Amino acid sequence: MRGKHVLVGVTGGIAAYKAGYLVRDLVKSGAEVKVMMTEAGTRFVTPLTFSALSKNPVFTDLWTNNQSSDSDISTQHIDLANWADVLVIAPASANTIAKLAYGISDNLLAVVALATTRPIILAPTMDAEMYLNPVTQNNLTSLKERGYIVIPPVEGELASGLSGPGRLPEIKIIIETIGKILDQSHQDLKKKRILVTAGPTYEAIDPVRFVGNRSSGKMGFAIANAAAQRGAEVTLVAGPTHLETPRNVTRIDVESAQEMLTAVLAHTKKTDAIIMAAAVADYRPANPAKHKIKKHSSSKALELQLEATTDILAMLGKKKRSMTLVGFALETKDELAGAKEKLRKKNLDLIVLNSFGKQNRVFGSNLNTVAMIDKRGKVEQLPIMPKFDIANKILNKIKTLL
Ligand SMILES: Cc1cc2nc3c(=O)[nH]c(=O)nc-3n(C[C@H](O)[C@H](O)[C@H](O)COP(=O)(O)O)c2cc1C
Repeated sequence: MRGKHVLVGVTGGIAAYKAGYLVRDLVKSGAEVKVMMTEAGTRFVTPLTFSALSKNPVFTDLWTNNQSSDSDISTQHIDLANWADVLVIAPASANTIAKLAYGISDNLLAVVALATTRPIILAPTMDAEMYLNPVTQNNLTSLKERGYIVIPPVEGELASGLSGPGRLPEIKIIIETIGKILDQSHQDLKKKRILVTAGPTYEAIDPVRFVGNRSSGKMGFAIANAAAQRGAEVTLVAGPTHLETPRNVTRIDVESAQEMLTAVLAHTKKTDAIIMAAAVADYRPANPAKHKIKKHSSSKALELQLEATTDILAMLGKKKRSMTLVGFALETKDELAGAKEKLRKKNLDLIVLNSFGKQNRVFGSNLNTVAMIDKRGKVEQLPIMPKFDIANKILNKIKTLL
């Protein structure tokens, strides 16, 4: 934590007083701390408390100069956004969470959250009903998809007298999370250009029907998110998925394998690594109908003829020079042998083998179990873990290959 710039945001909730302990312990651990408060936050604890604990002026207002008379109010929010190595909003009220989810920026804290490219950690605390309300849950899900780190509240007795999830976790847990996030976002991939593909592809049968697969896109989006947090310039070519775009990532939406191929080829120049996490269709309807295929009154079966799509990974493997190429494999039998064969045949530098089993539902889950196999055939089996952590493991490996 020593020398790190930690920007703490305090919003209007009963747990605001606990942010005092957070600031105190961060300062003790060697971090430089600045505090921003919402107007509601100042109703629970005074800025003076945080100013004394952080040994810095406290920022409460978008419209006044909080620092000193000679610093420029017109750039105050941007200066703060750039100053931070990490922004921690603790406690994060339901109101502020909703603002962040929709980009509403009508106070200093919300403007800075929108302007910073650094990791943002949220510690929601509120009454259990407010926390469990689908509106709050949806807002948190969309923020998590975009790369916000959410420390879930703990269960226990709440200020309302009721019991449930809503309490601020122990300060130690929050500080551990800040440490972990600072470690994971130490900009070791700065100036690296990384292209990631994610999600399924849809191959048209007719204008309204398609052949697809069960890929959710979560693994590829996690890789894009983790790479961007580590400072890489990330382009994400995404098949159809409802996932939100991670912060600091350029997204290109495609639908079919052919569109994915075109988008990938247009961006391979000057790319340091390509990570093909997308589940690209191997086959597509050979003659998609121009108009919707009508249901015939007879019970005659409808036959669809499929033709092979272009194998994007194999094509990149043939073309590549200095670029690092990473593929994914999913097999339902002879997993390891199949993955090794794919690595060799497609001239990959690394292949990530998804485990497919009843215990580990890879599709749509936030957890996964994978093995990484490198060119020399070395296999590294990872235990079950969040896709974001797997993403960082893959990026660590790629870093040694770049
Ligand atoms: C006594 C009191 C306690 C409150 N506690 C919480 C809380 O713990 N969490 C929360 O999300 N909102 C809480 N609220 C509501 C927020 O303060 C209110 O939504 C406010 O607009 C939040 O503004 P902010 O997000 O700009 O800080 C509380 C309100 C009052 C009056």
